[in-house]
Amino acid sequence: MNTVKNVKELRAAVARARSEGKRIGFVPTMGNLHSGHAALVTKAAQRVDFVVASIFVNPLQFGPSEDLDKYPRTLAADQERLIQAGCHLLFAPTVQEMYPDGMAVQTRVSVPHLSEGLCGASRPGHFEGVATVVSKLFNMVQPDLAVFGQKDYQQLAVIRALVRDLNMPIQIIGEPTVRAEDGLALSSRNGYLTAEQRNAAPVLYRALQHVAQAITGGERDYERLLAEARAQIEAAGFKPDYFEVRHGINLRPATTEDRDLVIIAAAYLGTTRLIDNLHLNLDA
Ligand code: PAF
Repeated sequence: MNTVKNVKELRAAVARARSEGKRIGFVPTMGNLHSGHAALVTKAAQRVDFVVASIFVNPLQFGPSEDLDKYPRTLAADQERLIQAGCHLLFAPTVQEMYPDGMAVQTRVSVPHLSEGLCGASRPGHFEGVATVVSKLFNMVQPDLAVFGQKDYQQLAVIRALVRDLNMPIQIIGEPTVRAEDGLALSSRNGYLTAEQRNAAPVLYRALQHVAQAITGGERDYERLLAEARAQIEAAGFKPDYFEVRHGINLRPATTEDRDLVIIAAAYLGTTRLIDNLHLNLDA
């Protein structure tokens, strides 16, 4: 696997692969990779001949009080993991390479509606930062397909919308969340948890499962179920940000007639914000 740091080298390497008739897959990341990221690369490698990953901790998607400086930079370990997972090319640009004229004058991509509410409400500007950097990366790599984790459910919905609305010829694949044995969704942020918080963390997934089982069993009093779920995670030490049932595609508040649902939550354990979700297709 080659690692390149600028757009010119990236384009040259991708052009070489294309000239050999290879289809290109892309997995954008912010590094500090775990088995969840490896699963995205493996999925891409199963579908295409040439897999590009990127590692870029994107300042544009972090709020002023968020953990940009604290975000772990672990390039050597990440390279090793990418090689094992079957990646062919790593793009690891600097902030200067991505935003040469500075972020203040950077053209932005915003996806209305889907970016509002849920994580968008507590992280203003976050999805504009994600949509902007992902659009730039898509234009740089020009992949045939790109793979994202379903753990970031709202992010995946935003990316599907931007690709559709901007007519980008890229297939977006959502890969199921990889979980620890006790159910906790793998996330770079899990590394911030104390041992005690780590023990409590799987309760978030258990609360999602509890709501999902009740809905599958015919219960439609979402408010009551969600109040129970919030109480369940609060009892384990979480401070809920949101815990909701939404329509699985447009993310509008779910009605009792909806068949495609996502139960979606964000909650703090200490200062660490964890997110998770469970997608339910009642017709499946
Ligand atoms: O999910 C992430 O790691 C980031 O939001 C992404 C998609 C790489 C954009 O910076």
